[in-house]
Amino acid sequence: MTELDPRLARRVKLSDGGLITKMLDIATGIDDVIKLGRGDPDLCTPAHIIKAGQDALANGATHYTHPMGIEPLRQAIADNIRHYGGADYGVDEVMITPGGQQGMFIIALSLLNPGDEIIVPCPGYNPYQQAAEMSDAVVCKVPMTMETNFTLTAQMVEAHITAKSKILVLINPNNPTGTVTPPNEVRKITELAKKHDLIVISDEIYARLTFGNNTVLPVASLPGMKERTITLSGFSKAYAMTGWRIGYLAGPRKLIKPMSEVNHAFAISTAAVSQHAALAAITGSQDCVEEMRQTYDARRAAICEGLDAIGMSYAEPQGAFYVYANVASLGFGITAGAFCERLLADGHVMMYPGTIYGDHTDDFVRMSMTQPVERIKIAMQRMADVVESFLTESQQSD
Ligand SMILES: Cc1ncc(COP(=O)(O)O)c(C=O)c1O
Repeated sequence: MTELDPRLARRVKLSDGGLITKMLDIATGIDDVIKLGRGDPDLCTPAHIIKAGQDALANGATHYTHPMGIEPLRQAIADNIRHYGGADYGVDEVMITPGGQQGMFIIALSLLNPGDEIIVPCPGYNPYQQAAEMSDAVVCKVPMTMETNFTLTAQMVEAHITAKSKILVLINPNNPTGTVTPPNEVRKITELAKKHDLIVISDEIYARLTFGNNTVLPVASLPGMKERTITLSGFSKAYAMTGWRIGYLAGPRKLIKPMSEVNHAFAISTAAVSQHAALAAITGSQDCVEEMRQTYDARRAAICEGLDAIGMSYAEPQGAFYVYANVASLGFGITAGAFCERLLADGHVMMYPGTIYGDHTDDFVRMSMTQPVERIKIAMQRMADVVESFLTESQQSD
């Protein structure tokens, strides 16, 4: 565990206990590491989007913009949300942020008073917890398990609601589990939100990346939900635009307008060039999104095939680009954290343990589908070899 300098404020923590740094240290000097760790697509931003960014720069998009973002982009996002069955938003109900990630902190700082409770799914994308903790709010973690394929259910949520509950976070599809919450369950959860007067943060950043028959029901489209929902989304995942740092929040104007003041205080505005590129992304042909989705689907199959051959169980990956695999199912009594370290040191494959995402067990690893199928196949073979060496060791110690 890395020691923190005592001069740092108490709110500063190492959320993963220094684990990622430790893994990066192990990886230093190994030149053939296959990286299935970060959720950063290896795919390039489509050429027409890059071109739109270049043109925008040439045409003077080098200044601050309106703190909420350029109007054509906000209008295009509102149209896009409607197109996919979401709520009917006005242009003043959409706010552009420097990545969805900053959106989480804007939400937390704008809505949470010290002592307010925020209900988060665990495992789930951990910056929600960090943002809440930095706002002195109380984080109520809802532990999800393999029994429900890590699906959040209304029953689980209800057990964590108290008089102090203010916000409920839904991440659909979820990172790190790749689970899609079934529409029926989403409906039940929204009924709870209305009954207990909760604001729902609906993170739908992976909504265009689902597999098989799985689809995402936009929370704000449900009766009585628009006024109590903030939808968080962005361009990083569906358009492979992580480095452009652009995302958005959509919600009722009574909340969005004051939140844009917080956004202004943080960043003044999102980079103009990224906003013009995002406009091209969302208004241009969506074939590139479908192509990427199919690419991830093929990679998902390659990972699942490899895990099946090893005999490691995993949650059914229904969306996003992650497979959540159960190290404990191997029966070696090794933690996911120790497995990741050994796999990196001996097999030169990097993946992250689920504890980074708040998993209450140390049994699972998250594998990102961010390498081509051929590389994934090599990674799975290396993983099989490392598992084989564990097997030999456990037989020798018997
Ligand atoms: C569930 C989820 N939401 C939001 C984000 C933030 O994405 P960005 O800040 O790149 O828009 C991520 C990034 O990994 C994510 O996994």
